[in-house]
Amino acid sequence: MKRTEIINALQLAGEGQLINVRGWVRSRRGNKNVSFIALNDGSTIKNIQIVVDLAVFPEEQLKPITTGSCISATGHLVASQGSGQAVEIQLTELEVYGTADPEQYPLQKKGLSMEYLRTIAHLRPRTNTFGAVFRIRHNMAMAIHQYFHEHGFFYFHTPIITASDCEGAGQMFQVTTKNLYNLKKDEEGKIDYSDDFFGKQTSLTVSGQLEGELAAMALGKIYTFGPTFRAENSNTPRHLAEFWMIEPEVAFIQKDELMDLEEDFIKYCVRWALEKCQDDLQFLNQFVDKGLIARLESVVNTEFVRLTYTEGIEILQEAVKNGKKFEFPCSWGEDLASEHERYLVEEHFGKPVIMSDYPKDIKAFYMKINEDDRTVQGTDVLFPQIGEIIGGSVREESLDKLNAEIARREIPMKDMWWYLDTRRFGAAPHAGFGLGFERLLLFVTGMQNIRDVIPFPRTPKTAEF
Ligand code: 4AD
Ligand code: MG
Repeated sequence: MKRTEIINALQLAGEGQLINVRGWVRSRRGNKNVSFIALNDGSTIKNIQIVVDLAVFPEEQLKPITTGSCISATGHLVASQGSGQAVEIQLTELEVYGTADPEQYPLQKKGLSMEYLRTIAHLRPRTNTFGAVFRIRHNMAMAIHQYFHEHGFFYFHTPIITASDCEGAGQMFQVTTKNLYNLKKDEEGKIDYSDDFFGKQTSLTVSGQLEGELAAMALGKIYTFGPTFRAENSNTPRHLAEFWMIEPEVAFIQKDELMDLEEDFIKYCVRWALEKCQDDLQFLNQFVDKGLIARLESVVNTEFVRLTYTEGIEILQEAVKNGKKFEFPCSWGEDLASEHERYLVEEHFGKPVIMSDYPKDIKAFYMKINEDDRTVQGTDVLFPQIGEIIGGSVREESLDKLNAEIARREIPMKDMWWYLDTRRFGAAPHAGFGLGFERLLLFVTGMQNIRDVIPFPRTPKTAEF
């Protein structure tokens, strides 16, 4: 018999029709006469109840049906007598696909800690919380593609293996086929990469932006959406060594239009979650973060604050003068710490902030330099609970200025020739940003740790699964 997914079965009127469902047993309880199986197949957070008449199915036959086992159940869909569900299935035929020994199956108990669940990341999608998170993750990916498609952007695939360091932070994972037990070095003690797979030193990309800019100089509006890698040794609830990034790049726009795009895009994604992920959000709102739905609604309905870095520093220094204590000092020219960002967003303004015009020395080489020659047109979006969720900028389109900046930072020119060609041939004003997909998911799910919004997190000293 053809399988009905539980999400669809629950929409049907229970008129005694015969249906088949398949899934994993969440629990089985009952009495001498009847047994109730709560079955979940991942299509929805909701379980379907299967009612088993013990006169027809003796207890002995139900023994293998324990939490975590996988079954196929056929029966009549009827209106439920009990509260809590509209319909239930009266079992007529049962097949056990796979048992799960109650002595060994780790997801027996409720209320397991997030830390423990991380150690069984191969099984945690079967919990309510992670089922919800991963369904929302899928929905956010769909929202992102839909937004850009609707707005005339082209999905452009940038390489994962690269020879250039976009952010210039030296946080790249090397890619090599060299025998590390027998490394050949030249007279100066440097590794000779000429006989390596690519004939040069290569790494996993930290960002698709540079190639994205090339594409925007041809297709006008593009976006990337792919994995990026950073070997930064920051063990925080907001950093992963492997994360997914969305990077739109747009020709012919200025700073204001870039900030409009950042705000519009993020609101679209959050609105999509509110509209399409209601059951999962309600679960998370009830069990993970009581303020979640209210926070999502407030972001959709509020205008983001737009503030320059210099204004931000003034507000922070004023706060310090009035007795606010920060762990790190904040003075003009220093990067904001997460506590500073969160003070501005959560305490001072109470809403998201788009901060712009940062000191050039704390930002990457490609950002457009302002007339003052001290600041650049970077536009980061700072969010409640998260801090930086988007990093973006107008790009420096002048070949001379870009060259000067590359020289000042001593970035190896030979690796950059193709990037500079966009400034040589038909250079155009353009801008773009990068949204950390998992940071967006932290916000949308209310989860506290970035390791819990990606199926298999990669962080310093952990690459299990
Ligand atoms: O601010 P970042 O470093 O900007 C760039 O990479 C630009 N090339 C993007 C662009 O303009 N096209 O990173 C962008 C975003 C951050 O705002 C943050 O959300 C996320 O990527 N991010 C991380 N997310 C998880 N783990 C990490 N280690 C991250 N580093 C950055
Ligand atoms: Mg950044």
